[in-house]
Amino acid sequence: MDGFKKRLSESVQLRLSLALSLTILLVAVVASVFAFVSALDEAHELQDETLHQVAILFDRQQMTLHYPHGPDPAGDNEESRVVIQYLIDGRNASANTDETLPLPLPTTLADGLSTVDVGGEAFRVLVRTTARGERIAVAQEVDARNKDARESAWRSLLPFLILFPVLLLVVSDLVRKLFRPIATLAAQIDQRAEQELHPIDEQHLPTEIRPFVVAINRLLARVALSMDSQRRFVADAAHELRSPMTALSLQAERLAATEMPPQARERLQPLSLGIERSRQLIDQLLSLAAAQFASQRPQTSVSVHAVYRRVLEDLLPLAERKQLDIGVEGVEDVQVMINEMDLFTLVKNLTDNAIRYTPEGGKIDLCVDLIQGNARLQIKDTGPGIALEEQARIFDPFYRSLGSGETGSGLGLSIVKAIAERIGARVELDFSDKLNHSGLCVSVWLNTGLR
Ligand SMILES: Nc1ncnc2c1ncn2[C@@H]1O[C@H](COP(=O)(O)OP(=O)(O)O)[C@@H](O)[C@H]1O
Ligand SMILES: [Mg+2]
Repeated sequence: MDGFKKRLSESVQLRLSLALSLTILLVAVVASVFAFVSALDEAHELQDETLHQVAILFDRQQMTLHYPHGPDPAGDNEESRVVIQYLIDGRNASANTDETLPLPLPTTLADGLSTVDVGGEAFRVLVRTTARGERIAVAQEVDARNKDARESAWRSLLPFLILFPVLLLVVSDLVRKLFRPIATLAAQIDQRAEQELHPIDEQHLPTEIRPFVVAINRLLARVALSMDSQRRFVADAAHELRSPMTALSLQAERLAATEMPPQARERLQPLSLGIERSRQLIDQLLSLAAAQFASQRPQTSVSVHAVYRRVLEDLLPLAERKQLDIGVEGVEDVQVMINEMDLFTLVKNLTDNAIRYTPEGGKIDLCVDLIQGNARLQIKDTGPGIALEEQARIFDPFYRSLGSGETGSGLGLSIVKAIAERIGARVELDFSDKLNHSGLCVSVWLNTGLR
């Protein structure tokens, strides 16, 4: 019960359905009572009218009454029959003294309608004095009359009994339909990726929800603006840092070329390494800012194998140093409609990781295939792989697993994620060797965009 109350206070749809249903029920009950009472009244009036008709007919036809002896041939319907008889002081009564009257009605009854108690049973009696001066009584049992009247009154309720459930169905359907735009809107917003901050289309929405959607759109615009300025700040900061860092590394190179005591040279080496690492970090920061920048880039039909070859050319010295067997697997190439720089940056970061985290003598394969119209790019290595519990966090900026012994910025996979989200690609992590849970296999699913 508490659960229902809670739902009721939370759901406008439930409240509206319930209020409408209760109103319909109330109106139906009031209307039924009214219809029942007036149908009952009408039935009684009709029965009185029948008594009048019988009396008038008897009078006009100038009939004479004979009372049958023994069981009534009317049988089953005995109760509802109409009895017609002389009141005992009528002129013909003396002639009929040997016959027993059907009902011992009091002779004092005045002309007109009345309800009389005869031997414990109530009768509706119409007394009339005929043109011949006889007083006749037309009577009908009250119980039987009531039973007939009630039956016809119940029948008048039949339309309500049919109409009520139909109305309830119509109301619940109508309310559901009225609230459908809200559910559709929620589903649409739910499906959006984080950086899809374009305004919600409010044109086809009911006017009641429109102000709410307009307010959300204004908020979306503010969030987009603030995210944009944040990204721009990171990009600007990285850009500003690049020039002094380049100057610093030039100075270090020059310093290395001069005469200096061995102790000083020993200290210069980590300094140069530090400067180089900082330069790489700044480059990656710039790359991430560029990847996140939501601008339209020119798309062309790009060969995945050609991109693989360019990446391998760039990274081969690194791979050779570790004596890795690295190469493109398979002969089938796939063309995708994409910005070539995006695909290059994405593949390069993944391949760079594979090379860095695979121990010496390992193997790295780059492959691509077409599955149901989508290109699946895979970069597989024989390194340690990424533990399942770490996979959710690995795409966060600056997140790095401990103990790999490699230096890095922790931005490579964030760049991959940013590009993938912007171009609508899906990135999946898996083990290359599923049995031993080792080796990383990154799959990138791309819509080829080609028909
Ligand atoms: N191929 C891989 N094999 C094992 N671990 C990986 C692989 N690629 C990435 N990782 C893990 O994910 C972390 C984040 O990678 P990334 O975002 O590229 O940053 P970085 O390489 O600069 O550390 C790495 O520090 C590493 O621990
Ligand atoms: Mg990396």
